[in-house]
Amino acid sequence: MIDKWGGVESLKIYTLLDDYAGYESQFWATHGVSFLLEVKFQGYTKRILSDVGPDERVILHNMELFGISPESVDVITLSHAHYDHTKGLLGFLKEAKKEIPIIAHPSLFRKNFINRPYFREIGIGLKNSREDIEKNGGILILTREPMNIAEGVVISGEVDRVTDFEAKGIGTYNISEEGYLERDKLLDDFSLAVNIKDKGLVVITGCAHSGIINILKHFKNLFRTNSIFGVIGGLHLVSANKDQINKTVEGLKEFPLKWIYAGHCTGFPAQVAIYNAFPKAYGILHSGLLIRE
Ligand SMILES: [Fe+2]
Ligand SMILES: [Fe+2]
Repeated sequence: MIDKWGGVESLKIYTLLDDYAGYESQFWATHGVSFLLEVKFQGYTKRILSDVGPDERVILHNMELFGISPESVDVITLSHAHYDHTKGLLGFLKEAKKEIPIIAHPSLFRKNFINRPYFREIGIGLKNSREDIEKNGGILILTREPMNIAEGVVISGEVDRVTDFEAKGIGTYNISEEGYLERDKLLDDFSLAVNIKDKGLVVITGCAHSGIINILKHFKNLFRTNSIFGVIGGLHLVSANKDQINKTVEGLKEFPLKWIYAGHCTGFPAQVAIYNAFPKAYGILHSGLLIRE
């Protein structure tokens, strides 16, 4: 274990948004993901908001049910530019009414397109201009490198794509410097890891467009430990074939996973495969889910 990233004494993960609301739940759901991480270390309690979803009203409603005020957020991280993770940013800042650092990739504001089932823009949206974000308290910190956000909490930076079955592209496009549409490599796909003292690492993804096995290997290298015991977020296997799903399941077996909550863009066949491989560890991700470590 590398000491330079530190460790927390405890972690709470409040699921502020998933595509599923849960059984008989008062929480709201829509297509997207958002988590609030609360970490305690050295007498501090810090709150990190990982993604904001496509519309701030959903996470604000769910925060209220959890009894968490928007102004209690210390830092925001954005997993990638896609609207279902970012579009609620400006609206959230307007509610928080304070200066908040926002950590994201330098390509956050690029236009991003998809042509299935129809052609449309799926980036952060024009409403979230850099200028308006800054006017409303957002302090943009754009990085390609891993960064310590709090003791034991690390954002991945760009993830090396080392497996041969992941990150094949999801059919999204951006506009090249020359002005042409080109395949988007989604290099901005970031995840978070929290090192919990005497327990190991928990990994929180947005969509895992880099591939979940690439992401876990990345954190394994950064922390110099294999002890990743929790994974939560979207795994973007919704359009993966059987071969990729099987190889992903085999890749997950290399880590001592005690729990996996794979929701959002994971897709039903992959969820079934992961459940079958890890029946005790697998849980259903939903808005309102609270994890304590
Ligand atoms: Fe997503
Ligand atoms: Fe995405």
